[in-house]
Amino acid sequence: MSQKIRSSEITSESTYLSRREFIRTAGVLSLGGAFLAACGTSTAEPTAEGAAAEGGAEAVASDVPVDELGRASNTFEEITNYNNYYEFTTDKEDVAKVAEGYVTSPWQVEVGGLVNNPGVYGMEDLLSQFDQEERIYRLRCVEAWSMVIPWNGFPLRKLLEQVEPTSKANYVRFVTIQDTENMPGLSSPFYNWPYQEGLRLDEAMNDLTLLATGIYGKDILPQNGAPIRLVVPWKYGFKSIKSIVKIELVEEQPSTLWMDAAPNEYGFYANVNPDVDHPRWSQGSERPIGQFQRIPTLKFNGYEEEVAGLYTGMDLSVNF
Ligand code: MTE
Repeated sequence: MSQKIRSSEITSESTYLSRREFIRTAGVLSLGGAFLAACGTSTAEPTAEGAAAEGGAEAVASDVPVDELGRASNTFEEITNYNNYYEFTTDKEDVAKVAEGYVTSPWQVEVGGLVNNPGVYGMEDLLSQFDQEERIYRLRCVEAWSMVIPWNGFPLRKLLEQVEPTSKANYVRFVTIQDTENMPGLSSPFYNWPYQEGLRLDEAMNDLTLLATGIYGKDILPQNGAPIRLVVPWKYGFKSIKSIVKIELVEEQPSTLWMDAAPNEYGFYANVNPDVDHPRWSQGSERPIGQFQRIPTLKFNGYEEEVAGLYTGMDLSVNF
């Protein structure tokens, strides 16, 4: 739904990246040499010149994949070098290095629980049985940074329709691989491994809910959750569980790694909501990775029209 321009129809990614890098570098230089990390930790206010250069980037790079709000996608570099994947490491800028070479083939996803047709799907089945679409989605991390990512994948709904949830199924539970030999972060005693997440069945069936297998038309890299991960764009990023090995239809609301870790901070719903602050920080604005200035956070991350109806009558400050 969110696709205005297919990335395959536009300037090649490398042409785009080199242009954008050039313009961004010009912007950084105009700040008098201030260093801006990929995560944009600098609090320096941009000069007028810097802002113009940055604005120029949007104008010149108008052929990049943009979302339906007109926001340009982050670069492949940014998307693959600033990650949250606690099974590898909690250092966002080190995930790519620690996860490098992680083997995700062969891979199977077990789909079962309260369904008529349980099955074990190999990655090759998932790639051949379901048409892979491009979806350009905003990703809003609960930590108040954000990106725009051109995913490839297919709606979770299509897989669920194939396994046929029974009338008792109310929720979907997802589980990440727990590979203690190759994922050093799993030695942390602070989390109840494996990483688990959950959705209500109607949330899982919403057309926006994606099983992603690619980024910029390439296979997902380990740091982004290879070979298959969930993307739920109207919820905080932690709901978008990576490297899924199990999908289970269940009757009761499942617990999640983050609810187990800090139930007062991370609720089951985790809908992006600028009106409900995290106990330790504001959720009113966010820092787009690769930009100078914060922007206001949108309710349901800008997908209100598509999903607000799922929560009619619910108090979203209680069901946070
Ligand atoms: N999935 C697993 N298995 N482990 C994680 O640590 N982090 C989550 C989510 N999925 C996480 C995970 C968080 S907090 C975010 S913001 C997104 O992945 C980040 O996705 P990205 O690194 O592809 O941008």
